[in-house]
Amino acid sequence: MLTELVKRCPALPPNSKLLVLGGGFSGQHIASVARGLGAVVLCSRRKLESPGADVLFDSTTQRIPSPEDLKEVTHLISCIPPATNGDDPVIPLLGKEFEKMPLQWVGYLSTTGVYGDCQGEWVTEKKQPSPQQNRSKRRLACEKAWQKLDIPLQILRLPGIYGPGRSALESIRAGKSKMVDKPGQVFSRIHIDDIAGATMHLINLAAKGVRPNIINVTDNKPTSNIKVLEYAASLLGHSLPPVESFEVAAKQMSAMALSFWEENRRVSNQLLCKELGYSLMHPDYQSGLQDCLIQLQATSSEIIGAKVLNSQHQTFQE
Ligand SMILES: NC(=O)c1ccc[n+]([C@@H]2O[C@H](COP(=O)([O-])OP(=O)(O)OC[C@H]3O[C@@H](n4cnc5c(N)ncnc54)[C@H](OP(=O)(O)O)[C@@H]3O)[C@@H](O)[C@H]2O)c1
Repeated sequence: MLTELVKRCPALPPNSKLLVLGGGFSGQHIASVARGLGAVVLCSRRKLESPGADVLFDSTTQRIPSPEDLKEVTHLISCIPPATNGDDPVIPLLGKEFEKMPLQWVGYLSTTGVYGDCQGEWVTEKKQPSPQQNRSKRRLACEKAWQKLDIPLQILRLPGIYGPGRSALESIRAGKSKMVDKPGQVFSRIHIDDIAGATMHLINLAAKGVRPNIINVTDNKPTSNIKVLEYAASLLGHSLPPVESFEVAAKQMSAMALSFWEENRRVSNQLLCKELGYSLMHPDYQSGLQDCLIQLQATSSEIIGAKVLNSQHQTFQE
């Protein structure tokens, strides 16, 4: 919940102006929280009529924010994925400009895909990236391009992002969820509240001189997709399709979907949560999905059949 999240976040340094490049799912949430904390915020999208768009940025048409927009920007975060040719969409157009700006902190949202397959082991920021998928190789190249700039950069590596409007609840309601059983396979995930909350925490720490280069932003509980779907279905009071073995399901998966199942890792948040003291708003998928349900109930009248959250859900066991 935005108001609760804002209350938990530290204030940004006085006179902060935050530019969010790529105001999609995560970007808009980061922008809302920073605004709630009293900062001046500009959020870019590729079309001005898109929700939350304050300024235009589109690398394909080379539309960039004006000098007036960039004036006095103190904090910047890019939430824009690599272009299909592998280039970072932002750096060729704005990288040199950033080096001239009075930036106190720059965030780049990357992915934990850069670690590659870890055969289900825990992985920390100390592990050398070893991307196997082409998209993860492109991502690592973008990380390196950002690191070459002379700016106070911090790379946030994210696993699967979910939150209100984009979670297992929506896939179940749309009848699109598949119960795929691959023994030993887990996925890490992060709720958008914690992407925004961690961003504010890291900005605050950077102001105190603490700014590790790379941070995993992930919850405490890597889990199989089946467990997440079972829990989401229990919240909604829906039934689920029968479980299929991975070998059977894989025959109908797209190449993209299949590539996610080829890698297995448990991403550690020890640096963020233990060493840097960030307290997760949603430490696990149960807490995160409960929040998604509350927000779905608030925005939807179709959900009348859903169970009301109660202690049974709080104690749902894996
Ligand atoms: N989704 C996941 O599970 C996941 C997991 C790990 C990491 N990530 C990465 O984390 C970041 C944020 O993820 P998200 O899911 O919040 O992203 P998202 O909702 O897809 O938003 C991406 C943003 O980038 C903008 N964008 C894309 N291409 C652009 C271009 N060529 N020029 C200018 N703007 C461009 C989009 O513009 P419009 O607003 O105009 O569409 C949008 O605002 C992304 O880099 C994503 O790849 C995502």
